[in-house]
Amino acid sequence: MIQTGDAAIYEPQDAYERLSSPEVITIDGDMELSLRPKELKDYIGQEKVKENLAVYIEAARRRGEPLDHVLLYGPPGLGKTTLSGIIAHEMGVNLRVTSGPAIEKPGDLAALLTNLGRGDVLFVDEIHRLSRAVEEILYPAMEDRVLDIMIGKGPSARSIRVDLQPFTLVGATTRAGQLTPPLRDRFGIVQRLELYTPEQLCDIIRRSAMILDIPCEADGAMELAKRSRGTPRIANRLLRRVRDFADVMGKGVIDEQTTKLALERLEIDALGLDKLDRRMLDMMIRGYHGGPVGLETLASAIGEEAVTLEDVCEPYLMQLGMLARTPRGRCATGLAYAHLGYPVQEEQIRPKQFSLTDMLEES
Ligand code: ADE
Repeated sequence: MIQTGDAAIYEPQDAYERLSSPEVITIDGDMELSLRPKELKDYIGQEKVKENLAVYIEAARRRGEPLDHVLLYGPPGLGKTTLSGIIAHEMGVNLRVTSGPAIEKPGDLAALLTNLGRGDVLFVDEIHRLSRAVEEILYPAMEDRVLDIMIGKGPSARSIRVDLQPFTLVGATTRAGQLTPPLRDRFGIVQRLELYTPEQLCDIIRRSAMILDIPCEADGAMELAKRSRGTPRIANRLLRRVRDFADVMGKGVIDEQTTKLALERLEIDALGLDKLDRRMLDMMIRGYHGGPVGLETLASAIGEEAVTLEDVCEPYLMQLGMLARTPRGRCATGLAYAHLGYPVQEEQIRPKQFSLTDMLEES
């Protein structure tokens, strides 16, 4: 069972919204919920993560214990929330969904923890955004299943200890590096989610189309998959938009032609780059000779937040090989020049050389 309500609704990290952005405002809109696989066997992709989780879940079930705490990290939209639902389902327990910014005070976390049943899963999205005060409460809860609560203020203040039911914390983050070491060390299971291949996304799109009762041809699904930047949430969102075009301007079927037409109208190109990706690369090429340029400098040059560029644009541009992170900053590669229609320079073909001083400056 998935409990929603106040704890399940949270604001995205930044206000930037675009069709190919994987940010969500509510985690479990009805539609979103129905597309999420509930069992591990229906979850497509992330093979290593699935194989490992299957073993850990089976072992915990056999021992009659809750699963150890799990940290899932990787770019947004890859299925961290979905996996937490699957973990709860496979363990036969309830899932409670919340996020770092939604837990404002230690009391908020205490209320969540004391309401968990035996073995329940507490999913905390954007766990790197928990405040220090809230984190302090979490350590003994994760380690010893106890809550140390301060009652009163000043000289009469005293601490009482409350026992908790055994539970599993599933933390999700796009920025594992921002987790404090004491928090990171308390997760027994740490898994990184990778961007999906077009073939995996194609399978996800066809599965979603079947659930949503949208006629979808193999070519159409593949075209959409190739433009979904390795992210199921984007693939499912675009699927609904392409359906609108198919219903109004086509034959009501997701085929290659309608998909191409719809995505052209949405300004998403053949490789899935949107306006922001192209603006970022364009600024690097025209404004900074292809780089290296620092992320903050680049972000202010195009009027965007650095975290958006780092979390949303960069993982995909790096996977495509259009952007390189170097000790001196970001560089556009020859592939980026070629994709945006700029002549490729000799310099862009040969990787830039960096001295030891550059490396040391960066670290
Ligand atoms: N829907 C969203 N992500 C999915 C996945 N990884 N497998 C199947 N369906 C999905």
